[in-house]
Formats: sequence, C-alpha cells, structure tokens
Amino acid sequence: MKFLGIETSCDETAAAVVEDGQRLLSNAVASSMSEHIKYGGVVPEIAARSHIEVIMPIIKQALSDADCTWGDIDGIAVTHGAGLGGSLLIGVMTARTLAIALDKPLYATNHVEAHVYANFLTDTSLPGYKLPARQPEFPMLAVIVSGGHSQLVLFRNHFDYTVLGQTHDDAIGEAFDKVAKMLGLPYPGGPSVAATAERGDPNAYKLPKAKMDKYDFSFSGLKTAVLRLAQSQIGEGYDFPSIKLSERLSGAQKADIAASFQRTAIATIVDKAKLAYEEFDAKSVVIAGGVAANSELRHQLTEALLGASVPIDFPDLKLCTDNGAMVAVLGCYKMKLGQPEANPFSLSIEPNLSM
Ligand code: KG4
Ligand code: ZN
Repeated sequence: MKFLGIETSCDETAAAVVEDGQRLLSNAVASSMSEHIKYGGVVPEIAARSHIEVIMPIIKQALSDADCTWGDIDGIAVTHGAGLGGSLLIGVMTARTLAIALDKPLYATNHVEAHVYANFLTDTSLPGYKLPARQPEFPMLAVIVSGGHSQLVLFRNHFDYTVLGQTHDDAIGEAFDKVAKMLGLPYPGGPSVAATAERGDPNAYKLPKAKMDKYDFSFSGLKTAVLRLAQSQIGEGYDFPSIKLSERLSGAQKADIAASFQRTAIATIVDKAKLAYEEFDAKSVVIAGGVAANSELRHQLTEALLGASVPIDFPDLKLCTDNGAMVAVLGCYKMKLGQPEANPFSLSIEPNLSM
C-alpha cells in the first residue's frame, strides 16, 4: 500500500511517499524559512504564497524520487489542522483536487498525531536516514514537543489514546524561540539556543521548574525567570527592555543562560515523561515534534529511562521537523484500520484542531 502525504501547516511545503506505513520511499521538503527570518517569525501571508508556488513541484518530486506514477498511489493523506489557516488551505485544496481528479481515497490527518507517526518509519533505501530498527509497541507513551504543543499522550493502540497532560501556556518550542529572541540569537530559536548552549555551563544558573498538576506543563514562568536572570547579570532592573539585553550580555553569559535554560526546560519534560512511563507501564516511549531534534532531550530521556526495559529509539532529525512522510504513515494506518475517509468535496481546514 503506497500513500502520498501532503503537509503545509506552517512554512514547510512537504510531500512524501510511504509504503505499508513503514517504508520511506521519498521525502521532499521546501521551506520558506529564509523569507521569514528577517521578520523574526513566520509571516502567514508569505508562507501561504510560497506554498502555492511550490506545492505541485514538490508533489511531483516526491513521486519521482519514489519511482512512482499516480497509478501506484493507493491513497492521499493531508494535514487539515492544526496550523496557519492560509497554509493549511493550500495543502487541503491541492489534496482534494488530486483525490477527485485521480479518484483516490482521501484521509485528513491531525498534524500533531502525524508527528507521532514519524516513529513508525523503520525502513528506507534513501541515503542519509537513520531509522529505528523496529516499530513502537503499545502501550506507547508519546512525548510531543513542538512549537505549538507540549503534551504527554498515552496510546493504548492506534487511534485509541488519552492526553495525560499538556502545557497551560507556552509550548516548549515557543519558549526556546522567545529565549533566543532575548539573547539576540537568530530565528528559529530552538536550533540556535541549542547551538549556543553547547558552549555554556548547564549548571551555571538555577532556574525554576513550574509546579503543575501531575502531567501538565507551564513554560511562561521559566521564560520570565530567564529575562530576570539576564537583567540581573548586566546589573539592570526589571524595567530594562528585553530587546536591548543582547547588546549588553557577553558571549559567555549568553552561552551559560542558554545552557541553563535548555537543561531546565528539557528536564521539566523528561521528569514527567518518566513518571508517566512508570505509572502506565508503557512498552515504548517516542518523541515527536520539532523539539524532538534537540540532543539534550535525547540525552536526558536516555539517561532517565536507562535500566528500564523500554526500547527508546529516536526518529531521524529530518523526520522531526515538519514533513510529508509522517502524514503518509498516518494515512496508511487510517486506511489499513478502517478509519473514515475524508470527503474530497467538503474537507475543511481546522486551524485549532487538538488531539
Ligand atoms: O514541529 P515543528 O517543526 O512545528 C510545529 O508544529 O510547531 O516545531 C518547531 C519548533 C520551533 O519552536 C523550533 O524552535 C523548535 O521546534 N526546534 C528546536 C530544535 N529544532 C527545532 N527546539 C530545540 N532544539 C532543537 N534542536
Ligand atoms: Zn510540526
């Protein structure tokens, strides 16, 4: 069973072909990030316009890289939420049109759920991919950490899951992006904070972990604590503007702040993931979303679960950020397990879709 997955929820225009929910045949991605950098964040209108320009070339590339014609494709899956409205619309309208014109079954996928399904890819002949040796077993604990979400979700089986907890304010990726802004590091903030943290001491400063209900998170207090720390390091009061901090902080101070923030933010997630793993006797733990690319997360999670019998394999970095492969995998499972098809004449976008 070969599925085409289409993903356009933010700035990446992505399409991929996956076979039987586990074999990656192609993974084509175009990003408009370089056009957003000067604005310090994704500009929805620019992202949508870029999707229109590149979506058909990217889909054609996904088919040709997979050595497929349309006749080989058994179904089309598309992200219909959550995400930016204008961006989602381009992917959904394209998928609807293709499904009608080519008479293919259409499946609508939730972006966050799709991130989790990147972990089911175990096989590829594409060069440069390091994939887990086996698919995760149920019950599976999913640690979802992206720019818009921080959630712990327990999957008892495919399409049978419970959200154990989530953030009450900022998502962890958002906290990385905001801290990067304070330190004058380039957007997107996650990779630049991680790179700066490598030069710093993660124990230089003690920052607070929010005390929340069992599996819930909060990152806004940590972000404010970083602001107060930076203000005090340069000998200024709490009214000193955050946009001027970076000119006054030394490189060493920035590195120590980045490392201390990263250690604390990641530990907040890992502490609760360990608790949930133990309580629910999970047979596997997976990480999903853009922050899953963070090496401190991979390191702390491995340490926390070391000695436990749980297999912990991480998805390839190229499958942590937004991609069409994760959407195609989820589409395959939807078809295989009899989940309802989407109506290609009426499928709508759901910008605020949650799990
Ligand atoms: O999943 P994603 O590509 O988009 C959303 O669905 O939100 O995640 C993007 C987020 C951004 O906040 C970005 O700063 C963060 O993932 N990110 C990272 C790293 N790479 C991307 N955060 C920490 N460390 C990284 N290496
Ligand atoms: Zn994402």
